[in-house]
Amino acid sequence: MNKNDLKSLKHGTRMIRAASVIDRPVRSHVPPIYQTVNFEYPDVEEGLDIFQGKKSGYVYTRDGNPTTDLFANMAALLEEGEAGIATASGMAAISNAVLTFVKPGDHIVSSSAIYGGTRTWFRDHLNQFDVRTDFVDITDPDAVKSAITENTRILYTEVVGNPNLVVANIRLLAQIAKQHRILLIVDNTFTPPPIILPLTLGAEIVIHSATKYFGGHGDIIGGVIVSSMPRIKEISVTVSKFGGVMSPFNAWLAIRGLKTLNLRLERHNSNALHIATFLSKHSAINKVFYPGLKSHPFHKIAVSQLNGFGGMLAFEVKGGLDAGKKVLSGVRVCSFTVSLGEIDTLIMHPASTSHIGLSQKERESIGVTDGLIRLSVGIENIEDLLGDLENALSLI
Ligand SMILES: Cc1ncc(COP(=O)(O)O)c(C=O)c1O
Repeated sequence: MNKNDLKSLKHGTRMIRAASVIDRPVRSHVPPIYQTVNFEYPDVEEGLDIFQGKKSGYVYTRDGNPTTDLFANMAALLEEGEAGIATASGMAAISNAVLTFVKPGDHIVSSSAIYGGTRTWFRDHLNQFDVRTDFVDITDPDAVKSAITENTRILYTEVVGNPNLVVANIRLLAQIAKQHRILLIVDNTFTPPPIILPLTLGAEIVIHSATKYFGGHGDIIGGVIVSSMPRIKEISVTVSKFGGVMSPFNAWLAIRGLKTLNLRLERHNSNALHIATFLSKHSAINKVFYPGLKSHPFHKIAVSQLNGFGGMLAFEVKGGLDAGKKVLSGVRVCSFTVSLGEIDTLIMHPASTSHIGLSQKERESIGVTDGLIRLSVGIENIEDLLGDLENALSLI
């Protein structure tokens, strides 16, 4: 089998075969970890050619490393992009992708329903370089269009956004971006392939926090950017100069994670749908936010665009802050912790943890009500998860 044959395989098989097909220097069945800073040259001529970019080859791991490249190539294969570049974290993927394509005076239109860290980076840090961001309701095409100015360079969104799991119409956003000659950058962390492949719907750049579903086990911080070859070449210079490269060991763990991504996602999807259905009928619950539920305001667009509804859901318990805290202290199988996309179910009560610094009014303005609980549904046996949630909810 060669690299081109991989494209004819289904996503699950493709990721299982990819590492041993792409990486074949000594035909090891599992790829090695090139845990090295620098690379040696066989002779002065070849060294000079590689150093001057006349010949391809590795020099220094901040500029490229076979293990991080293998991970990036696998991510590109998964997202059906031409090329990829691995980064130190999801935030490094976002900041390097964006910084490559903006200059002082430029403008960004971003979904307001994005990861808080990205939002504050746009608002507080990118702003310092005189690049202003306007946040809009990404599900309202008129709001998106009217926020675009002649200085806008980037339209930025996640596919499914916190806290209410709104679903962006990627095909429509890609059309808007093309009409205005701006770049659509999609953070696909919550909904990795085969759930959705944003590049095939017209997005220009896809980024992932590999910390989440790609790694899958909560043991690495990493990121990756996938796009066309010319764009990845440009972004690679930014990544090398800012220095936010992925470590070879983390890339090796991400490679291993990608091999089971498809199988894990099947279970994440089905467990989350079971839990959302169970919660939607529970008397202690006000609302459940999950795109797989018919009652979800974006269910139709989710059905038309997604292949599975992902493992993320949120629900609002009756009884506000106190009730939320009781659920959190009542769970035994779910882990009370931040992050997402890991094999175990992670539970969070934003009002008493991540968003405690905001006033109730501020929290509510971004949809973080006092009774809101976020679940990153894992791949445990569904009976254990339902039993755990039932017990915890009975404490309210
Ligand atoms: C959707 C999304 N994108 C990006 C990030 C940032 O990723 P990292 O923590 O790997 O920098 C996160 C982190 O939670 C996230 O949820």
